[in-house]
Amino acid sequence: MASHPSSSPSLSDSPDQQPWSQRFESALHPVIATFNASIHFDIALLEYDLTGSQAHAQMLAHTGIISPAEADAIDQGLEQIRQDYRQGLFQPGVDAEDVHFAVEHRLIELIGDTGKKLHTGRSRNDQVGTDIRLYLHDHIQQIRSLIRGWQRALVNLAQDHVQTLIPGYTHLQRAQPVSLAHHLLAYFEMAERDWHRLGEIDQRVNVSPLGLGALAGTPFPIDRHYTAEKLGFVDLYRNSLDGVSDRDFAIEFLCAASLIMVHLSRLSEEIILWASEEFGFVKLNDSCATGSSIMPQKKNPDVPELVRGKSGRVFGHLQSLLVMMKGLPLAYNKDLQEDKEALFDSVVTVKACLEAMTILVIEGLNFQTGRLQTAVGEDFSNATDVADYLAAKEVPFREAYNIVGIVVKTCLAQGKLLKDLSLEEWQQFHPQFSGDIYDAIAPRQVVAARNSLGGTGFEQVQKAVAQAQSQLNL
Ligand code: ARG
Repeated sequence: MASHPSSSPSLSDSPDQQPWSQRFESALHPVIATFNASIHFDIALLEYDLTGSQAHAQMLAHTGIISPAEADAIDQGLEQIRQDYRQGLFQPGVDAEDVHFAVEHRLIELIGDTGKKLHTGRSRNDQVGTDIRLYLHDHIQQIRSLIRGWQRALVNLAQDHVQTLIPGYTHLQRAQPVSLAHHLLAYFEMAERDWHRLGEIDQRVNVSPLGLGALAGTPFPIDRHYTAEKLGFVDLYRNSLDGVSDRDFAIEFLCAASLIMVHLSRLSEEIILWASEEFGFVKLNDSCATGSSIMPQKKNPDVPELVRGKSGRVFGHLQSLLVMMKGLPLAYNKDLQEDKEALFDSVVTVKACLEAMTILVIEGLNFQTGRLQTAVGEDFSNATDVADYLAAKEVPFREAYNIVGIVVKTCLAQGKLLKDLSLEEWQQFHPQFSGDIYDAIAPRQVVAARNSLGGTGFEQVQKAVAQAQSQLNL
């Protein structure tokens, strides 16, 4: 029941002409055409554009704006474009301007005049908004599953290292020894928040602007609920001016992507330090390290270095979008075309970094347990435990703290560690010291003792590993 007049052609009949209306008398300057075009990057939206258009065409038939036969022809034409694209047979050039025009133009080539009805009741503004939301929703799911893989790799490694001790640092100074598993699980927790954060943001990504038109809605009796449901959106924009120009969801995503990169870059930095001669805590396996072109002895931690470096790109994209949106008047402005490269590059970067870091953690890290054991035994990171020891024997903590300060100072002057002091020497500092002090300051005991909730005590860490495993259904 095609009761409404067909839409006037929005594409010229000749492929040689520019794609917009006949009011223009001369062609676009070729440099301006290239400048204006987005096809070289928004081709990444092609499949989402096709899916969105198929839903739109079905809605047009459902509401009687076009006939079911017309909707079928459009649907098949769009499907043909999808297949051609997948086989590399559809490669639109700059003359198409953008992916939306490219598809529409090709559709008309394929199915004739019926193709000209597709753009009824919508605009490229709500169309592009639909496409990037479909794109982002899809990639958020992919990134969330990569985060799960990343968490699995961390937990599996942690499981093997509950009993491995590593110096814990504050101010990058040795502070207190911790279980290596505890250290790794700190990153599991960050990833868990990243996973949830993306899920929450997705609620606002997955909202349909389709049918909002250029900025003000449409006179056609469209059914926005119908397309929203077909496309899997969970909600609809309620205001057309807002919906066609909102990019909050993209900024939120870039914020979440930036935090993922912050987290990956922190571990990256640690791995880079740990792999240095100076730390020597980890050796990189050959499958995840690279060599130098001139220094034959070198083995470089390129993966974590690249992750650390690439984080800057994502933060930059977040900044770009914030600045792009600031002060932008309602509604659509061409500035918004600049959202895409920032978004696409961030998606590609975050995915690549998660994948590379997951492989690095699965097979690239060879922790030097001997070196770690020596490291935790050769410093004063058990000094707090001496103070705690006295405090447990009723010496007020601040007094105990001051006494241990003197003990450490004396040891430093004599080139000794705490464990090297004889019982007599201990007792000169305080009569409450007895033979059990040696046990109390042994690194393993120091770690085991910190059994408070969320602490590094082995019991706590074992529980944390088990909880993480059950969370991931491992
Ligand atoms: N390529 C454009 C973009 O990415 C599509 C929307 C164009 N809309 C317009 N009114 N010129 O934003």
